[in-house]
Amino acid sequence: MTEQSRYDRIGGADGVRAVVERFYDLMEHEPFYAALRAMHQADLFPLRVSLAEFLSGWLGGPRIWFDARPGACMMSIHRDMGITRETASLWVHAMRRAMAECRVDRTLGTEIQQAFLHMAGGMMRE
Ligand code: HEM
Repeated sequence: MTEQSRYDRIGGADGVRAVVERFYDLMEHEPFYAALRAMHQADLFPLRVSLAEFLSGWLGGPRIWFDARPGACMMSIHRDMGITRETASLWVHAMRRAMAECRVDRTLGTEIQQAFLHMAGGMMRE
């Protein structure tokens, strides 16, 4: 049997989309995430598309985001956003909740969460 990619294990395009939609719904509607919401543009639709396209390639599926932005680096994109410890941990918190609520496999969710923690740590500037 060939090894499944993380993209397959999360449920392909539908699985990725479900997590991304839940993530931005939480950011949009839960006051707990207000400081994180305040950093983002009024219309979250373009980000819903962008994050789903990024995660697709990052998880081993179609590389839509990467192909559209040759050489783009997610860490550099976030460098001047003024990400603090608080907003970084809110991002990671919302993503952990979104994955749990979308019933992402626990082992896979933990693996992904570890990587997000690492990325978020590198994006913090304060
Ligand atoms: C550390 C916590 C993070 C914070 C506070 C944060 C915040 C932001 C903000 C404020 C934007 C710009 C939104 C706008 O234009 O309105 C953005 C863009 C974006 N972020 Fe984050 N982010 C974080 C971590 C991450 C991580 C870990 C990922 C990927 C796994 C990610 C993926 C994206 C994507 C795909 C975009 C759109 C950029 C593009 O496609 O050009 N972010 N983020």
